Amino acid sequence: MKILGIETSCDETAAALLEVADYNSHKTKKSQISNLKFQILGNVVLSQVNIHKKYGGVVPEVAARKHVETISPVIAEALNGQKPDLIAVTRGPGLITSLQVGLQTAKTLSYVWDVPLVGVNHLEAHLWSYLLNQDTSHKLPARLVVVAGGQDTLFPAIGLIISGGHTEMILVKGPGTYRLIGRTRDDAAGEAFDKVAKMLNLGYPGGPVIAHFAKKGNSSQINFPRPMMESGDFDFSFSGLKTAVKYQLNDMVPTGNFSQAFINDVCASFQQAVIDVLVGKTIKAAVKHKAKSVILGGGVSANEMLIADFQSSIFNLGLAFYYPEKWLTGDNAAMIALTGYFKQKSARKNNWRKLIAEANLSIV
Ligand code: KG4
Ligand code: ZN
Repeated sequence: MKILGIETSCDETAAALLEVADYNSHKTKKSQISNLKFQILGNVVLSQVNIHKKYGGVVPEVAARKHVETISPVIAEALNGQKPDLIAVTRGPGLITSLQVGLQTAKTLSYVWDVPLVGVNHLEAHLWSYLLNQDTSHKLPARLVVVAGGQDTLFPAIGLIISGGHTEMILVKGPGTYRLIGRTRDDAAGEAFDKVAKMLNLGYPGGPVIAHFAKKGNSSQINFPRPMMESGDFDFSFSGLKTAVKYQLNDMVPTGNFSQAFINDVCASFQQAVIDVLVGKTIKAAVKHKAKSVILGGGVSANEMLIADFQSSIFNLGLAFYYPEKWLTGDNAAMIALTGYFKQKSARKNNWRKLIAEANLSIV
C-alpha cells in the first residue's frame, strides 16, 4: 500500500509517499508485524530554518504562513502524479497554527479523493524513524521483525525521544504499546543546545553548531552539573544546566568577547554534560525494565558523540541499539507515513470530519 505522509508541526513543511509491503500479513496475528518492507517513493522536506534564523528561534505566525504557501507544491512533488491508498498526517504535538495547515490539507485530500485518513503523533513517528534507515549493515535486525509474543523479539525497548521541544523516555512493548516513564521537567535537550548556542552568539539551531565546535574543544575543561543524574526516576531537567553555562560565561568572560578556544571548550563540556545524563539515565531505565534494546529518535539523535557514547554503553550491556540515520533525525514526513501504517486500524474515510490538531498531544 502507498501512504502519503504530511508533516507541518514546526518549521519544516514535509510530504512523503511510502510504499509498505507486509509479506506475512496473511499469516500473522493482528498484534504482530513481521517482515515489513518499505520503499520511499517520494520524500520532500522544505525547511524554514533560514527564515527563522534571524529571530533566533521559530516564530509561530511566520511558520504557519510559510506552510500555507508551500504545502501544496511540497505534496505534489512527493506524490509525483501518484495517488495514495492512505493519508497520514501529524496532528500533534507542535505549534497549533502550523499543525492546522497540514491537518486541513490532509482532510481536504481525504474528502476529495475518498481515501482514508489517520492522525499521527509526531513523537511516536520520531521513535520509529530508524526503521527507514537505508544502511542496515551496522545494526540488527535490518527491519522490525516480530512483535508481541514473538521469540525473536527486541522488545521491551527503552525509547528516548530527544528533540527541540521534547525529551521523553518511553517503555516500548511494540508499535502502539507505550508507557511514559520519564520526561523533562523544564527545557528539552534540543532546547538546551539552542539556548546555549544563543548565549555564545552561534545562531539557530544550536545543536549542529555546538556539536561542530565541541569536536575541537576539551570536554573536561569546565565541570558542568549533570542534573538529576541520581534522582532515582527517569525525569530530566536541563534548565539548571543552561543557567550554569550562563553563570560560567559571565564569570569567565564578563566582556562577552569569547575566544574561539573558549567557545570550543564550553561547547564540548556542555555537550558532554547533556550526553552523560541522557546516556546514564537511559541505561538505568534499560536495566530496571529489563529492556532488550534502546531506540533513539528526534533531532538531537543527530549528535555523533551522543551516538558513540550510547554505542559503547549499550553494547557493553549486550542490548541492541537502533537510531535513525542523520537524514531521518529531523522532522520529515516519511516517518509520519510509516507510523500511519502502524495506526491504519484507526484510519477512516470520514476522519476528515473528526480529526483535530492538539498542540500538547501525548504519546500515551
Ligand atoms: O526533531 P527536531 O528536528 O524538531 C523537533 O521536533 O523539535 O529537533 C530539532 C532539535 C533542535 O533543538 C536542534 O538544535 C537539535 O534538534 N539538534 C541537535 C543536533 N542537530 C539538531 N542537537 C544536538 N546535536 C546535533 N547534532
Ligand atoms: Zn520533531
